Amino acid sequence: MKFFIDTANLAQIKEANDLGILDGVTTNPSLMAKEGIKGHDAIMQHYKTICEMVDGPVSAEVFGTEFAGIVEEGKKLAAIHKNIVVKVPMIKDGIKAIKWFSDNGIPTNCTLVFSAGQAILAAKAGATYVSPFIGRIDDSSWDGVQVIEQIVSIYNAQGFMTEVLAASIRSPLHIVRCAEAGADICTCPLSSILGLLKHPLTDLGLKQFLDDAKSMQ
Ligand code: G3P
Repeated sequence: MKFFIDTANLAQIKEANDLGILDGVTTNPSLMAKEGIKGHDAIMQHYKTICEMVDGPVSAEVFGTEFAGIVEEGKKLAAIHKNIVVKVPMIKDGIKAIKWFSDNGIPTNCTLVFSAGQAILAAKAGATYVSPFIGRIDDSSWDGVQVIEQIVSIYNAQGFMTEVLAASIRSPLHIVRCAEAGADICTCPLSSILGLLKHPLTDLGLKQFLDDAKSMQ
């Protein structure tokens, strides 16, 4: 399973990248706004900076909701860097645009996906990635990981090439369960990635080893 980081924060992207386990980055308008980025040029420059930091796919989301606008925006985003993936919402015009991008060799990430039916449409349109938001599904008292399992099983049964990118990850356990469910990628906040390191027996064991090592010096 590949690890993407779900943030537009450059310090966090650097910290995850320095671990050597980062395969890509996803952003969305909320994450970009959180960094205080304002205006077209600053937005484009920020994506460029991320692409220069991480050698892997970087999802940049369109702001438009109509076919022609999505296509225009997507073409401009794709021109920033070869690793840009155009992130398109799961709406009717979004599906049309994903098909257009797919026919024109531009990689896409279909976002705001909450059901297997939506994931089938995204795959039919040729999306490179589909992003089910598992944390938000859990928030509405459904089981997000179950949706991942269902999509993975449908894609395998049907031979769809779209990669399942589990998004809206809220904890290290989400990452473990998505790996079990066969997700191709997890896009996670840095805190969830670092949470995977934690185990009290590791801390206790390390303390013992360091104490014993000191006693031998
Ligand atoms: O990038 C999309 C997704 O990961 C958002 O997560 O935590 O806002 O539900 P969250």
